[in-house]
Amino acid sequence: MKPDRKKKQHSSRESRQPERKTKRGSGGDQRMAQDVEPSAGSEITPVWLFVLMGLMLYGGMLYLNSYAGGFNPKVYEAFTSYKLVENANPKSGPEMLIAKGESLYMVCAACHQVNGMGVALQFPPLAGSEWVNEPNPARLIRIPLHGMNGPIKVKDQDWNASMAALGAALSSEDIAAILSYIRQAWGNNAPPVSPADVDAVKEDTKSRPMDGSRPWLIDDLMKVPVAP
Ligand code: HEC
Repeated sequence: MKPDRKKKQHSSRESRQPERKTKRGSGGDQRMAQDVEPSAGSEITPVWLFVLMGLMLYGGMLYLNSYAGGFNPKVYEAFTSYKLVENANPKSGPEMLIAKGESLYMVCAACHQVNGMGVALQFPPLAGSEWVNEPNPARLIRIPLHGMNGPIKVKDQDWNASMAALGAALSSEDIAAILSYIRQAWGNNAPPVSPADVDAVKEDTKSRPMDGSRPWLIDDLMKVPVAP
C-alpha cells in the first residue's frame, strides 16, 4: 500500500469503509495505513450481463434436453436416451425376436397401421384385439399364414373384409417375430410366439395352401382348439 493513499482516505471515504477495516469502530482518523483499501462504489448492472445469463441458462437447458437422457439415472454420457442404452444391451431370445418383429411389422402396418389401431371400416385393430391376445396362439398364427375372409368381430365391432395370406412370403421365424411383437405392443399382453409354434401350425394345416387361395373363415377358425 502506498503511504500517500492514507491521506486521501481518512478525510472523505469513511462511510464506505467496512466496519472491520477500522481500528476503533467509527474513528476514521485512526485507520492504519495497511487497512486502507481502495473503495468501490456501486454501478448499475449492465444489461448485457442479464442477456448473457439468459443465454447461458437457455444453452444449459438445451444441453440437458439433448444429453440428460430424460434424467434417467441409468443413462450415462455417450447415450442420450434410455432406448439407446437398452438397444446396446445383450438381448434374450424372445427380446431379439420381438426387436426383429418390430421392424418386420411394417408388412402389416400398411393395413393395421403403425399404432396397431387399424383403419375404421377397412382394417381391424390389433391393439387390444382379443384375437391377438389369445393366450394360445393357434388361431392367431393361422391368420397371417393363410389369410382370412368374411365377417369377424374385433373389440365388439363387426368387420367384413379380406386379408391376404403372407405365409409364402414370410418364414416361420418372421411370423413368430411379428406375432411376438404385436402381442406385447400397444398395451397388448400375451406371451411370445416361437418359430416352433408356427412350424407346428404349418404341420397341422399342410393341406391348406399358403398362397391365399383358401383363406380362413371365422367358422373354421373357431373350430381350432385353443385350450391351453
Ligand atoms: C392388405 C391389408 C392387410 C395386411 C397387409 C395385413 N392385414 Fe391383417 N387383416 C386385414 C383385414 C382386412 C382383416 C379383417 C379380415 C376379415 O374381415 O375377415 C385382418 C385381420 C387380421 C387379424 C384378426 C382381426 C384382428 O384385428 O385381430 C389379425 C390378428 C391380423 N389381421 C394380423 C395381421 C398381421 C400379423 C399382419 C402382418 C403379418 C397382417 N394382419 C397384415 C388386412 C391386412
